[in-house]
Amino acid sequence: MSSESKAAEYFCKDFEWEQLRSEIESNPSLRHHFDSSSSSSTQSPQSDVQAWKQFHTRHSSGKFFKERRYLLKEFPQLLSSPPNSNPKLLEVGCGNGSTVLPILRENKDVIVYACDCSDETLDRAKEIINANANANGVDSFKHRFHTFCCDVSTNGFPNWLACNHCRDNFLQKKSCSLLDVKEDNGLNVKEPCSSEGLDCCVGGVDFVTLIFTLSAVPLERMPRSIKECFSVLKPGGMVLFRDYGLYDMTMLRFEPDKRVGFREYIRSDGTRSYFFCLNTVRNLFLGAGFIELELDYCCVNSVNRKKGKSMQRVWVHGKFQKPALCYRKVRR
Ligand SMILES: C[S@@+](CC[C@H](N)C(=O)[O-])C[C@H]1O[C@@H](n2cnc3c(N)ncnc32)[C@H](O)[C@@H]1O
Repeated sequence: MSSESKAAEYFCKDFEWEQLRSEIESNPSLRHHFDSSSSSSTQSPQSDVQAWKQFHTRHSSGKFFKERRYLLKEFPQLLSSPPNSNPKLLEVGCGNGSTVLPILRENKDVIVYACDCSDETLDRAKEIINANANANGVDSFKHRFHTFCCDVSTNGFPNWLACNHCRDNFLQKKSCSLLDVKEDNGLNVKEPCSSEGLDCCVGGVDFVTLIFTLSAVPLERMPRSIKECFSVLKPGGMVLFRDYGLYDMTMLRFEPDKRVGFREYIRSDGTRSYFFCLNTVRNLFLGAGFIELELDYCCVNSVNRKKGKSMQRVWVHGKFQKPALCYRKVRR
């Protein structure tokens, strides 16, 4: 068996998501989580970006998130680039670098661009990554790791990440409403965008990683964030996605007053978390023009040995591709 097909079996199915769903939805004590008519937070609206900045100031040791080595198994393409091909990867919402560190260590060719809305966490990520490179006797990652501060949900990415021409065309010619979001089973983006009719060039990055970042963005700003990812990818490039899934144990732990929308919650520190069903993820990505390659729940029984408790964790795993063919407009 090739390493790629072994890795493809990595997604966990310790339990069936449909079985979990029917247990949760028939439990009256959990009703407040799936009632679509109400949102109940009394918390004053605080800027989500500001809340994340404060979060990083409070956790300035940078030890809050652990290295995500499992991603290399979930997404084997991160390791399969031809030698000296120098694939470019953009990690959106990089935090302290827990996703990019194992990628930089294992793929000696990859060039990583990492952004976050917090300057403080970017400084921490640089420190952690450089310290790690030194400790492992690896040449400094300095020339392969570049950071920039950005709020993906409002400002978008800097022009240098992709060709200006492509980017302007993309944003001007798309007709999908960025605010076309409803609180139902998913996001009602009515017409999927296609790359037809766009002028394109081969600029931009090969991979975008969106790992537990989209859930931190308010629902109504998610379509814009995904479109930004589309606009900086090369044709044929991919978004590698992992985030909280609907009925994950951490969702069920939220008290009713922490609910700010359908499947959307706010923690006491003001940071947000959305819990995705597959349809919501699918509609967001297809609505931005992506092709779906993989999309599934990852259901894991995680055992807390100290407390002897088993926890049902649900994540969404997704892989989406920007169409490889871009049609060039014929000038007459
Ligand atoms: C749960 S952490 C995930 C960090 C990292 N991707 C990982 O794999 O550990 C979410 C990150 O997204 C960042 N973030 C939240 N909203 C953002 C936004 N609108 N633009 C850019 N980054 C954002 C936060 O500062 C935080 O570092």
